[in-house]
Amino acid sequence: MHLTREEEKMYAGEYGPAVAKSMEILVALGDIYGAEGMVEVVSAQISGVSYKTIGDAGLEYLEDLVREGAQVRVPSTLNPAGVDLDQWQELGFREEFTKKQLLIVEAYREMGISTTCTCTPYLVGNVPPLGSHIAWSESSAVCYGNSVLGARTNREGGPGALSAAICGRTPNYGYHLDEGRIPNLLVDVETPLEGSDYGALGYLVGKTVGSGVPYFKLKSNSQEAPTVNDLKALGAALASSGAVALYHVENVTPEYKDASKHIADLDKIVITLDDIKETREKLSISSETPDLVCLGCPHASLEEISEVARVLTGKQLANELWVCTSISIKAASDRMGYTKVIENAGGHVVCDTCMVVAPIEDLGFKVIGVDSAKAANYVPSMCGLDVVFDDWKNLISIKTK
Ligand code: F3S
Repeated sequence: MHLTREEEKMYAGEYGPAVAKSMEILVALGDIYGAEGMVEVVSAQISGVSYKTIGDAGLEYLEDLVREGAQVRVPSTLNPAGVDLDQWQELGFREEFTKKQLLIVEAYREMGISTTCTCTPYLVGNVPPLGSHIAWSESSAVCYGNSVLGARTNREGGPGALSAAICGRTPNYGYHLDEGRIPNLLVDVETPLEGSDYGALGYLVGKTVGSGVPYFKLKSNSQEAPTVNDLKALGAALASSGAVALYHVENVTPEYKDASKHIADLDKIVITLDDIKETREKLSISSETPDLVCLGCPHASLEEISEVARVLTGKQLANELWVCTSISIKAASDRMGYTKVIENAGGHVVCDTCMVVAPIEDLGFKVIGVDSAKAANYVPSMCGLDVVFDDWKNLISIKTK
């Protein structure tokens, strides 16, 4: 692949071993995927943060990079970690696990990466503009960044995104190119959607389209447009049952007009109310009452937390409740008084982590209730626990006096 003079200097080690090692990774990726050159990025979002997923080998790799002087060149944020970095003791996380987790986060911090550990960087200031090139690795964030923001990223792995952050570049292929953004499946949704239906739709279509680009015609367009929260749930599910990195929604997402020029020739699937109902049923592998209800996959927005607080005002929960979010959204929730209301009801606003990357299997829970199709897909395999999928208001149990 073609490298500029500056990139050649990076590759040759003129900026030190960390940059050289990172450039080697980017060149190898570019060669594998047939990139002709690199493109400069304006933002990075880096996965490979939880000690549960990267273990000691990952920690050593990061500490080596720190010793070699690695520093990021573009604004970069982290994916969720394995514990709430502030409330780990209160939530029951083990000390040995937490110590390793803190070392991982510290290594990233030393490289200049913001330690707001979240899968919704776009809710906390990492918001690249339309058409910009970025290197994001959390699959749900990739889907949101490409589809809703109209930025351009491939589904980076953790090392690829970190290397891009250190070099300020990524190989120019796939979703960075106009031809990578053309839809290849038309999805006609015949039924209006609400709440966790968007996740069920994403799960169902992701299975069909694989790594393709679906173009949605939503019936709800004519009544009520999907919200930011609906779109983040849709993308997360598409990216988890399939390998979707980009979708278009007619009249909603920023590139739908260009994408619509291609839909006349596409294969089409029709999604009915029965399809959505059937998918919702499939996603629940247990019919028991959940002992822990985990919301915020992807991490909850302030509006989602405010709605939970509104419903829980003056009530007492019979099951455990975690509302997972970022430290920045939790700070806003604290100030708005939502956290206090949720805590008074017996729940927690949990930050930096989530039900999939935290070792919740060590905390004594058996059945987890989720309103996210992505979480319903991953909790059984990543945590070995049973899962119930439903709208969150049906999952929580309120104590009667
Ligand atoms: Fe985020 Fe964890 Fe879900 S990383 S998208 S809350 S599985």
